[in-house]
Amino acid sequence: MLVDGKPYRTVWMGDDGVSVEIIDQRKLPFAFELVTLRSTEDAARAIREMYVRGAGCIGAVAAHGMFLAALECADAGDFDELFFRKGEELKATRPTAVNLAWAVDRQVKVVAGVSESDEKVALAKQTALEVADEDAAWCRAIGEHGLTLIKAIAEKKAPGEPVNILTHCNAGWLAFVDFGSATAPVYAAHDAGIPVHVWVDETRPRNQGARLTAWELGQHGVPHTVIPDNVGGHLMQHGKVDLVITGTDRTTFTGDVANKIGTYLKALAAHDNRVPFYVALPSSTFDWEIRDGVAGIPIEERSGEEVSCISGVPTGTGAENTAKDGCEIEVNLVAKGSPVANYSFDVTPARLVTGLITERGVCEASESSVLSLFPEKRLS
Ligand code: MRU
Repeated sequence: MLVDGKPYRTVWMGDDGVSVEIIDQRKLPFAFELVTLRSTEDAARAIREMYVRGAGCIGAVAAHGMFLAALECADAGDFDELFFRKGEELKATRPTAVNLAWAVDRQVKVVAGVSESDEKVALAKQTALEVADEDAAWCRAIGEHGLTLIKAIAEKKAPGEPVNILTHCNAGWLAFVDFGSATAPVYAAHDAGIPVHVWVDETRPRNQGARLTAWELGQHGVPHTVIPDNVGGHLMQHGKVDLVITGTDRTTFTGDVANKIGTYLKALAAHDNRVPFYVALPSSTFDWEIRDGVAGIPIEERSGEEVSCISGVPTGTGAENTAKDGCEIEVNLVAKGSPVANYSFDVTPARLVTGLITERGVCEASESSVLSLFPEKRLS
């Protein structure tokens, strides 16, 4: 997608052929900075400390991190053993998004298929590039399938009246390699001339909605409004939301959806108000093993400081929307001594999900419907 008119992806190979470039998403929207990764440890830190985040992006950075791992293993006695261990280190960085393990396991399997070190390195590089290209192609296809849903709603509205879409967290292009999952249908509709307006949940505690989704929608010229996380139910009661589209960090083949904390409450409000609640995901985000998402999906707990502190640029200085480095300040929000808890994700049961928008089309959030789109998974 475009940043100040220049096309970017969230991860790409460095010009020197032995490094990887990413966008430091921690600094957006106040600074746009690139970071170079030169080792597996750099890639692990980038994922753990959320320089990059979002299921697809984490998966693609992990795939590229495994290319850096392959370079480190090239002269090791037992390439495959060390490569596997480096993969486990990457996998341990964040537990909920399944794309991370999916990308690492794919690299381990592919690289084990050839015997010479230089072949393994070349294959790890090719696989990283394939993972990124696939992710972008899948998100583009999600956009096309989701566009059909938005178009159907737009056709029932008065000419020029926007389709109001609520989203939670950031499942935009920053959370993938390009286009995004939840945002892909929005970009497709906007580009097709269908008027859309997005209600952007700010998404405490890290504010990926206010900081990232708002920024990328703004860069693409999509009308949007940032709202506190508690507002969605009120908007739905008053007919101001036509459709909810969120992303997901892991969705079971039975249709249970793990996504950023607070998603479940939006799904409950949508159900109560008969607002369609769709979840957009590439197939790399399906968990083909866990049947019960509430019981089985590991929920990451992060530092309480993400809850008790907040950072941003000082108001009243004219710096609110500038991209100057170092202008953020951190402030405390919580009464001294009060404990805080920071569960990063929750699971929305399939019964609250209207449908899943995948690269192969839209299906119901049920085992039979998911498997009808991905019949090859019936056998595994
Ligand atoms: O903690 P994060 O920022 O990595 O959380 C992931 C997310 O951005 C969201 O949960 C998103 O909606 C799904 S990931 C495409």
